[in-house]
Amino acid sequence: MLILGIETSCDETGVAIYDSEKGLLGHKLYSQVKLHAEYGGVVPELASRDHINYIIPLIQDLLKDCKLDIQNIEAIAYTAGPGLSGALLVGSSVAESLACALGIKSIPIHHLEGHLLAPMLEKEKPEFPFIALLVSGGHSQLIHVKELGKYKIIGDTLDDAAGEAFDKTAQLLGIGYPGGAALSKLAEKGENQYELPRPLLHTNGLDFSFSGLKTAVLYLVKKQNNLTEKIKADIAYAFEESITDVLVKKSIQALKQEGLNRIIISGGVGANKTLRKKIISECKKNEFDYFFPDLNFCTDNGAMIALAGALRLNLPNKENYSFSVKPRWKLTEI
Ligand code: KG4
Ligand code: ZN
Repeated sequence: MLILGIETSCDETGVAIYDSEKGLLGHKLYSQVKLHAEYGGVVPELASRDHINYIIPLIQDLLKDCKLDIQNIEAIAYTAGPGLSGALLVGSSVAESLACALGIKSIPIHHLEGHLLAPMLEKEKPEFPFIALLVSGGHSQLIHVKELGKYKIIGDTLDDAAGEAFDKTAQLLGIGYPGGAALSKLAEKGENQYELPRPLLHTNGLDFSFSGLKTAVLYLVKKQNNLTEKIKADIAYAFEESITDVLVKKSIQALKQEGLNRIIISGGVGANKTLRKKIISECKKNEFDYFFPDLNFCTDNGAMIALAGALRLNLPNKENYSFSVKPRWKLTEI
């Protein structure tokens, strides 16, 4: 079965075609990062308008690349939430009207479920159950994934999400928005000069808190008479060491607590090299299996939505083409 996936929850227009037998056939992404960079964050109204501009041409290009016609598509999966309501409405209305016109099934997908399943786009797929460390711009969660659609949140952020902490720290260091990837690059040139707090590292719980870490960076930056490139790199290094130590320690704690031996890392921060290195090293020590999505599928993309659609195809589904988006949809309410 051929499933078209559509992702428009934030500032990335993503489309993909997934064949339930052969796997991913192709995907396209248009990132609005440049559009929002000058505002230092995503401007929802601009995001919706840009999704409108790009979504149809992207689908047309994708079909052409895959040498397919829209009539070949047999189901359409799309992100129905959580996300920005205007942005979600663009993808939802395109998906539902196309599905209605073609007389095929439409499948609303939870954005975080897309992230959770993204490692299954790879050749070596994790089997259920597993622990998921979901670290993106809006979420930092540890989830016990029992099976498709059965998710127990066992750790959550009390304040800033991991990606948000990366972005805010990057802003303090004068790197553009979103700064996660750039900050990580800068950290590669840094050395171990500063010690930053590792919030909640020694508690038994699995929750995260990163706002104190960001404040510590703020004070460290303010203390510098001259914020040279070398000092910036050392601060970026200290920040990355601190946040990844916490993420990895809690992930291993979660595996032990839930009695599982498999973990997947997903979401934009899952692309972070230091995080990956530390997870691999700790998992090897403890004989746990680990899975990551390809770097292209850590951040928002249409492939993970098409895949989630393929996995949900045979589950009971709504029968008409009406839709409502859920900007604050909880993963446990699927
Ligand atoms: O999953 P995602 O694309 O969007 C949400 O659903 O939120 O994640 C975006 C976040 C941003 O905060 C970005 O700075 C961060 O992921 N990010 C990174 C890296 N690449 C993206 N953070 C740390 N290291 C990276 N290499
Ligand atoms: Zn996302």
